[in-house]
Amino acid sequence: MTQRKGIILAGGTGSRLWPITMGVSKQLLPLYDKPMIYYPLTVLMLADLRDIAIITTPEDQDQFRRLLGDGSQWGLRFTWIEQPRPEGLAQAYILAERFLDGAPSAMALGDNVFFGHGLPELLAAADARVTGGTVFGYRVADPERYGVVDFDAAGQVRAIVEKPAVPPSNHAVTGLYFLDGTAPARAARLRPSARGELEIATLLDSYLQEGSLQVQTMGRGYAWLDTGTHESLLDAGNFVRTLQARQGLQIGCPEEIAFSRGWIDRAALERQIARLEKSAYGRYLRALYG
Ligand code: G1P
Repeated sequence: MTQRKGIILAGGTGSRLWPITMGVSKQLLPLYDKPMIYYPLTVLMLADLRDIAIITTPEDQDQFRRLLGDGSQWGLRFTWIEQPRPEGLAQAYILAERFLDGAPSAMALGDNVFFGHGLPELLAAADARVTGGTVFGYRVADPERYGVVDFDAAGQVRAIVEKPAVPPSNHAVTGLYFLDGTAPARAARLRPSARGELEIATLLDSYLQEGSLQVQTMGRGYAWLDTGTHESLLDAGNFVRTLQARQGLQIGCPEEIAFSRGWIDRAALERQIARLEKSAYGRYLRALYG
């Protein structure tokens, strides 16, 4: 069986957060004490994925590389892919086709934040389904801002509708997609929508029509946080700050996951700590590992 690979989509213009994202990519903005992309990155790490493509705009790629390097500091391997124009989430699969080379994938949107006890188990279950796809539905108060799950009377998923004016349910589809190796070929068959994008909803629909899409609900014990507006960006940062301060444990810390999984040794961890020690983040690692 081919090992699943990870994709982080960190392109886009961030225009909903202008002016703050006019000079810097949205996914590099701070979410409290870490760059936003650390959160989806660590979700992929929790899914046990170490071979990860990062898709950025050509302009922003240097900054991402400066931050993340080649991934070896965390026992990961990054492949850098440019998305010249933001032409839809499904385009990521076309851009990543060579990288995937037939492997199944998990794509995380670079601005999605997940937290919850049991997340690794939920991710492992999605990973275990090698054919078809798995997406996660999460109840939100404002579903019209997202892809929304349309359930029939029996609770079966009928469709996924992108940003509907009248949402068919309160369940948004989160930005984390586990798809099998056929995703790039399916994406290549899509035609641009009225807004000129290759829509993820249409790609998912091709799985749904075959009965091979699982919509897994993330229950109320999980947090799926949004960073799409100034308010929600601040709220997400405050959430991370509140929980970290209370527990004394970090959310979204790649060093911690890499070391605990044995992907990096003590010496590699030490190098990271030494680099970071002037910050509270580095001191956290020092305190954790002595
Ligand atoms: C995208 C997807 C949408 C999904 C959302 C999750 O929307 O198109 O289906 O619910 O991500 O973050 P965007 O935020 O790019 O508008």
